[in-house]
Amino acid sequence: MSSAEKFFRFDGQKTSVILYSGEATIPTLLYWGEKLPAAFEAQELLLLGERPLTFAALEREAPLSLFPQESEGFLGSPALAAHREGKHAIQKLQLCDVQSWEDGCTFQLEDQNAALRMNLQLRWSAHDDFLTSWSELENLGPETLSLDHLACPTLPLLPGENEVLALGGRWAGEFRWERSALTPNLALSIEQRSGRSGPEHFPGCVIGTAGFDETHGSVLGLHLAWSGNYKIRIERLRDGRGYVQAAGGFMPGEIQVEAGARFVTPRLMATRAMGLEALSQRFHSFLRREILPTWTRQPRPLLVNSWEAVYFDHERSRLEALVEAAAAIGAERFVLDDGWFLGRRDDRRGLGDWQVDPGVYPEGLRPLIDLVHENRMSFGLWVEPEMISRDSQLFRAHPEWVLQVPAYPWLEARHQLVLNLSVEAAYAAIKEQLDALLRSYPIDFLKWDMNRILVMAGDQEGRARAWQQTEAVYRLMDELRSAHPQLEIETCASGGGRVDFEILRRCGRAWTSDNNDPLERLRIQAGFSLFFPPEIMGAHVGSERAHISGRRSDPHLRAIVALQGQLGFELDLSRSAEAERAALVPYVALYKEHRHWIASSRVFRLPQLRPGLAGLGYVAAAQDRSLWWISSSASAPVSQEEPIKLRGLAPEQRYRLRVENQNKAELRRFMQKAPRLLEDDASIIASGAALMHGGASLPVLPPESCLLLSCHRLDA
Ligand code: GLA
Repeated sequence: MSSAEKFFRFDGQKTSVILYSGEATIPTLLYWGEKLPAAFEAQELLLLGERPLTFAALEREAPLSLFPQESEGFLGSPALAAHREGKHAIQKLQLCDVQSWEDGCTFQLEDQNAALRMNLQLRWSAHDDFLTSWSELENLGPETLSLDHLACPTLPLLPGENEVLALGGRWAGEFRWERSALTPNLALSIEQRSGRSGPEHFPGCVIGTAGFDETHGSVLGLHLAWSGNYKIRIERLRDGRGYVQAAGGFMPGEIQVEAGARFVTPRLMATRAMGLEALSQRFHSFLRREILPTWTRQPRPLLVNSWEAVYFDHERSRLEALVEAAAAIGAERFVLDDGWFLGRRDDRRGLGDWQVDPGVYPEGLRPLIDLVHENRMSFGLWVEPEMISRDSQLFRAHPEWVLQVPAYPWLEARHQLVLNLSVEAAYAAIKEQLDALLRSYPIDFLKWDMNRILVMAGDQEGRARAWQQTEAVYRLMDELRSAHPQLEIETCASGGGRVDFEILRRCGRAWTSDNNDPLERLRIQAGFSLFFPPEIMGAHVGSERAHISGRRSDPHLRAIVALQGQLGFELDLSRSAEAERAALVPYVALYKEHRHWIASSRVFRLPQLRPGLAGLGYVAAAQDRSLWWISSSASAPVSQEEPIKLRGLAPEQRYRLRVENQNKAELRRFMQKAPRLLEDDASIIASGAALMHGGASLPVLPPESCLLLSCHRLDA
């Protein structure tokens, strides 16, 4: 396509995108919706869409382009705010070059007066209908440019898209779905200033027509792939047009672009669909195809993690018993959590000293790792490389490496401070320690934690350094991974505080939440599923009495809920009652039987169930296998539940429906006569059409229970 042409079109499976640039004007996203016929005159969209010019307005309506500018009269958020010591604060960039190809285009803008060049980059993934975009700014002038704001390409909203669904939460209560209405009076903003993508506000949202749900409503889903500070602004202007704009969040003076240098924004990833079900499925498929490390495509090992089992009590015989109990239940990986390194007898000390504590491990980690290997498990280790304790050798040697401004009282969280990784020597010291560990021991997996937020994130001179910190974390992970290509990394930040598509280029497992209470987990995991697929979701069976919530639950509920993700155990199996372990064993087998297809499955959250009843299903890509979790958190207002209708099956195929719970006898006690499915070894054969359109009746489900159904094609 030549640069003289004004329309740029991309087609996906379900949608088409048309970008339009007028007489050398900065392009706008003219259309993104239902897939258009091949023979389609984009010009007609312009004719149909011509807007009146109202009184008391500028002589030309400010374009809502990919790069809206104040100098064109745009009253929303301009894409760029920058200056050179107060000069060149007003800019007007113009389109000067276009390059486009089958699955992408670059629009080059320039302002010679302000000596700025900008590349707006757009990439189209036809397979998943995904638009990835970012902005690159080049400082052509002889003086440094202070960058206050630089947005990714701005995306318009469709008429009527005035409802926003965002993911928010807190420690141990992550991924909560929260809806807000968008009105022309109040722009909505999702911002994170904690230096991580954070449990408080996830860097992404869904914007759609009022009342959109799993299967209805036009929805735009977007995610800013960045693990540090950011802001997303959603606004409906007084002239009726709406937009969403995502950008990194800069602290004052943090981003200085030297003469001749460039600054590149994080990537914005977006897709359009009808309903949340299709939207989530696209996010999952895009993440799997384009982002996740390749090792996530292998069956994910069932693991045992030591944290809630032993906490800081790394007594040798206790750990050995745990390793043996892990192997006995069928675990394939043993992860030694916090407590193994120098001086780390509690959470007040040791961070920064990533050497094995000789007081606790006089012969190093070898004997433990050997035992793990003898038991045919791989070995994983917990680290928190971005942090430093006051009580550590590292701090005593280099107090100046702390990311806090010395002039003010420091803020600690969990008795810890952040290590300033933009100090090259600090970075090198940590990298060397981690590298030495990985060279000395056969470590297959790191659980990479990050337990405090970045506030007062300044260096010794009070220069803000939060942005550079995030870049340094990526670099550290990248360098370690390239030196140790087999290494798998899990992202953890007090649970699910740093799960985003940029960290997931490097980490293929996310520790979803510190909260192992199965009922809390059901909600957290369903929230997680909006953007993330099940195979990367760490989900552990905790103790009978959940450590975070104090609630008691039976092993069946705990195991069935943990089966929604990458199964693990985080209780002291060596001390669990025999009956509890026996109850858990069949679920281990179920996990191993199904994980291979779950890693490429489609996720369905069953719509229109009553409050207190939720349904989640995974359907294999080949539509031959599926698992369904029907969970009851509160009792029904009526004596019988409505039948559930499955989704995503092949209507003409025949399937066998069975209950996989190992506590069927227990569940039967809640009815005078239980449905056939609850009988031992019972199953029902029915067509996909009957299961999806007719529906299956449910047994009476007591509150705090979960039914696990499998529905496999007869030949599967
Ligand atoms: C964080 C993690 C936990 C555990 C502890 C160890 O809270 O989320 O899973 O690793 O740190 O200190």
